[in-house]
Amino acid sequence: MSLRYAERMTNMNPSALRQLLQLGADPEVISFGGGYPDASIFPLEHLSFVFNAAINDHGREALQYTVPNGLPRLRQQVAERAATVGIDCTSDEVLILQGGQQGLDLAAKMMINKGDVVIMEDPTFLGALAAFTPYEPRYVTVPMDAEGMDMAALERALKANPEAKFIYSVPEFQNPTGVTMSLARRKSLIELANRFDMIIIEDTPYREIRFQGEAIPPLKSMDTENRVIHLGSFSKILAPGLRLGWAIASDEIIQRMTMLKLGVDTQCSTLNMKAVSLFLENFDIESHIVTIRQTYLRKKNLMLETIRQTFPQQVSFTEPSGGLFTWLTFPEGFDTALFMKQRALPEARVAYVPGAAFFANEPKTNHARISYSTQTDEAIVKGMTALGQLLKESI
Ligand SMILES: Cc1ncc(COP(=O)(O)O)c(C=O)c1O
Repeated sequence: MSLRYAERMTNMNPSALRQLLQLGADPEVISFGGGYPDASIFPLEHLSFVFNAAINDHGREALQYTVPNGLPRLRQQVAERAATVGIDCTSDEVLILQGGQQGLDLAAKMMINKGDVVIMEDPTFLGALAAFTPYEPRYVTVPMDAEGMDMAALERALKANPEAKFIYSVPEFQNPTGVTMSLARRKSLIELANRFDMIIIEDTPYREIRFQGEAIPPLKSMDTENRVIHLGSFSKILAPGLRLGWAIASDEIIQRMTMLKLGVDTQCSTLNMKAVSLFLENFDIESHIVTIRQTYLRKKNLMLETIRQTFPQQVSFTEPSGGLFTWLTFPEGFDTALFMKQRALPEARVAYVPGAAFFANEPKTNHARISYSTQTDEAIVKGMTALGQLLKESI
């Protein structure tokens, strides 16, 4: 049989995805690869209460179809929470999504024609590349430092590509680097977007998982020209299995994304939306988020402390103030994928995500993304110590 794939499949590489999914599969291996939240802090009792209430008290509504943009009450609650960080929007400017990931797909579907330029951080979120690539864009990447995107480089990229469709950024605790964009850079980014008439996709699933330092206003709160599509998620503040997130953007953009969502999945699960809405109504999600922050701060400290004690000095790492990840940089020429396959997995029994996949255009082999969220304290110390010792022998 000849499978007559569309041209867009040419750039898709299923074996890379399979390899990634297999990383954590061996129970003997301590995997720092996945970006899963710590399941031990899912608020099971409260979720059990709201799912029961959704069925027992509101079952006929909660198991029925609803409008494609999401339950009105939940949209209103998302808008109210957004107002607390300076995002002024109505519930009609909110679209409930199947996780923030769906917002990346819908935004790409709405804007990208084959060959269009998308400007993004280098490195960037793998899931964004997975969402955008089927629409066959050309990526223009902007380097980052400890304050996020380099604005001089962004300006050059915009001058060279004035027809670009959008700028994609993860301003807080970026996946994969853990880096947060400073306030000054955010102001510059908005100023550049205004000047070059550019849409920004602001992807913020980790925004509320800040465990150190002062919160920085989201780009959307500085957006006076309605050019930011702000994406958020319940995955890291409640549970990713709910598959619920949101987009906040102008009425016009939300209407178009909603039309596309209708064709993709009609709507998000009414039951899950109802349960989350009841959760926000009945329980204090902010105090739950405090627990999440405390847990990840402890784990982040433990991981970085173990790295400091056991890793060779030639390996540097980022110091995130929130989120789930740190980003390791090895000496030039070091190949983290090869090292994992040949040494880290068989000898240290440790997995991470080799960094090359996070670069849209030119893969760099001397990086790795490590997550401190999923493993227990003991496993963090054991796994990182084993990796550090192995690296000391090898570098
Ligand atoms: C930067 C970034 N954006 C979006 C997502 C999508 O998350 P979800 O679809 O679970 O909301 C993730 C998940 O890991 C992420 O790291």
